[in-house]
Amino acid sequence: MLIHSAAQLLTLAGGPQRGSLLGTLGIIQDGAVLVQDGRITAVGRTVDLLTAYPHEPQLDADGRVLIPGLVDPHTHLVWAGDRAAEFEMRIQGKNYMEIMAAGGGIAATMNATRNTSLDELIAETRKRAEILFRNGTTTLEAKTGYGLNTESEIRQLAALLALDDKGPLEIVPTFMGAHAVPPEFKGNTDGYVALVCEEMLPAVKEWCLANAGGRPLPFVDVFCEAGVFDLAQTRHIFTVAQGLGFPLKVHADEFENLGAASLAAEMDAASADHLVKTSFEDIHRLAQSETVAVSLPPTPFGLADGQYTPAQEIIASDGLLAIASDINPGPAWCESMQFVIALACRYLRLTPAQAIAAATINAAAAIQRADRIGSIEVGKQADLLLLAVDDYRHLGYRFGGNLVDVVIKRGQVFDFSLRFLKPVH
Ligand code: NIG
Ligand code: FE
Repeated sequence: MLIHSAAQLLTLAGGPQRGSLLGTLGIIQDGAVLVQDGRITAVGRTVDLLTAYPHEPQLDADGRVLIPGLVDPHTHLVWAGDRAAEFEMRIQGKNYMEIMAAGGGIAATMNATRNTSLDELIAETRKRAEILFRNGTTTLEAKTGYGLNTESEIRQLAALLALDDKGPLEIVPTFMGAHAVPPEFKGNTDGYVALVCEEMLPAVKEWCLANAGGRPLPFVDVFCEAGVFDLAQTRHIFTVAQGLGFPLKVHADEFENLGAASLAAEMDAASADHLVKTSFEDIHRLAQSETVAVSLPPTPFGLADGQYTPAQEIIASDGLLAIASDINPGPAWCESMQFVIALACRYLRLTPAQAIAAATINAAAAIQRADRIGSIEVGKQADLLLLAVDDYRHLGYRFGGNLVDVVIKRGQVFDFSLRFLKPVH
């Protein structure tokens, strides 16, 4: 299939974009892309590709913008129930960590998730996955962490793999048994850390080797935060996980600076995420590593907090910056990476070009898939979006809607553009 006549084709070619390189879009005016067997086999100008491949079936982009599929590198997609009542409490003045300490928050979702069967969990999660896909997310990372015991954590992992198998949304899983201390270990965080290290991690590895169909092992993530897991506990879990061959990620500096970003850099984690209260020293260490700094603007926005990731300092230090939704049933039920881009422009002061790079090629790097997705280059998977605009800056500029007309995943075309009001009766 030859997709042609894109007003702007944003290639994002050349690999992950560090520091001042962030926002290098590699625009081809009147661009075209050839897709064969789910992969990109040629990229160039419409005139050239139409001449070179005259017999290919055609998809006319008709002056729209063509970009790589958006990659969401930090989500908590699989859960049961909701926490609308907590949202109301937060608006009335209770804070997130107070609600969590009182047994709400993650523990509330844990209760609902533990009591949900695998099939129901898949069905609930699938609805959200479809909304994200329609909004242009073609690949996402998704964490467990609402089971908090071995059996229920593995059920979440099984739900994620089943959804990935079904597609079209591609899911890269993360095991996050250390998301919170479950009620049965209240006051005994070390006991729970021992369970994670001695029982859960080996069980997850064994389960994956038997059930994950040759996929690489999932990431292991820890919520390193005051009142949750401290830096020493995080280091301990990471050491065991790394010894078993798991790649690492971390929730760092969401509410307090505990030094987890530097730990992530030291241990060669794929990413350090949240990064709100991050010190200059931590930013510097991150920037000197291959660890991607992942900012989650929907979280402070959802908590109505005024403070966001110091993105300009990350860029000035030559760091690798990505953005993600953090979609979860607590502070950030956000299904749209387009909205994340809009927030990043306003609160991280990214240009639309920088935000798009942070949501594509750099987001792919944050999940160690930049060799396969995140840009429009020959050899890559054909994950593409056609936007109903002729200038890419409308991404970021506009918010609250959906600019995606067509989603192409591994060469398969999903056309959502025929939207017209049609009464049911
Ligand atoms: O990344 N901070 C920890 N985890 C999630 C929130 C999860 C929840 O509240 O359910 C986050 O923001
Ligand atoms: Fe998170």
